[in-house]
Amino acid sequence: MIRLEKICKTFMHGGSDRVVALNAVDVFIPEGEFITVIGTNGSGKSTFLNAIAGKFICDSGKIILDGKDVTNQPEFKRAGLLGRVFQDPFTGTSPGMTIFENLRIAMLRGQPRRLKLGLIESQRNIYFDELKKLEMRLEERLNATVGLLSGGQRQALTLLMATIRKPKILLLDEYTAALDPKAAEQIVRLTKKIVGENHLTTVMITHSMTQALDLGNRTIMMHKGAIIGDFSGEERKRMKPVDLLNRFNELRKQELMDEELVTMLQEGYY
Ligand SMILES: Nc1ncnc2c1ncn2[C@@H]1O[C@H](COP(=O)(O)OP(=O)(O)O)[C@@H](O)[C@H]1O
Ligand SMILES: [Mg+2]
Repeated sequence: MIRLEKICKTFMHGGSDRVVALNAVDVFIPEGEFITVIGTNGSGKSTFLNAIAGKFICDSGKIILDGKDVTNQPEFKRAGLLGRVFQDPFTGTSPGMTIFENLRIAMLRGQPRRLKLGLIESQRNIYFDELKKLEMRLEERLNATVGLLSGGQRQALTLLMATIRKPKILLLDEYTAALDPKAAEQIVRLTKKIVGENHLTTVMITHSMTQALDLGNRTIMMHKGAIIGDFSGEERKRMKPVDLLNRFNELRKQELMDEELVTMLQEGYY
């Protein structure tokens, strides 16, 4: 469903600093797979999702989504395939509009103009049913302004908006990080349900090692723009959050040793 072949993406910082955000990333994610992605800050996790979504065209490499080469396709052309939820509950929704209006926008995004007219009553019923499934009593508040909702309610609504058009791929970027634990748990439960019911191929970035192993069926570990670990099956089942943490610690230790070595070389110790 998702195939990245040797994807590279470099950003310029200031005038001269180059940051290699993705360094020849190769990965294949089959249909229906639910992947969690972990990595240190700045390791390229969000850039990985942005490459799939087409937020930018990559410097080199190839991206195949649902059997189609989308490497040079702009974001809006891939939008029908993808649903996204970001960390900030304010990103996905329009605060000044009602729940109904937000859902209507999500539903009609990218649709031909003639479909945008009419059908309001039948849509109201669809939205009512979909909101009811969220179990947050939002179906009773179709005309409420979204700005009045809690972070958890907004993320639930964003999740619904991201999946209401039945995309094949769902991309989640630390989407529970800004929520309190109870709301986060509720959103995760909803995600499992929606992903399961719709058989969505899902890529979820998380900072929680527990979440990374509890959810989905495969975990990818990123560091400095590269995939440095890919765990599934029995190996993953046996893993504990502390095992993942240990791997990060080993990396850090190795880097510190490398840095020390460079300094010593520079200072003429060798
Ligand atoms: N739009 C951008 N412009 C410049 N640099 C960027 C941009 N997006 C990401 N980067 C840089 O690329 C690297 C990877 O970033 P990111 O993918 O956001 O990391 P993560 O999500 O793992 O924390 C970082 O060094 C970051 O500063
Ligand atoms: Mg990020």
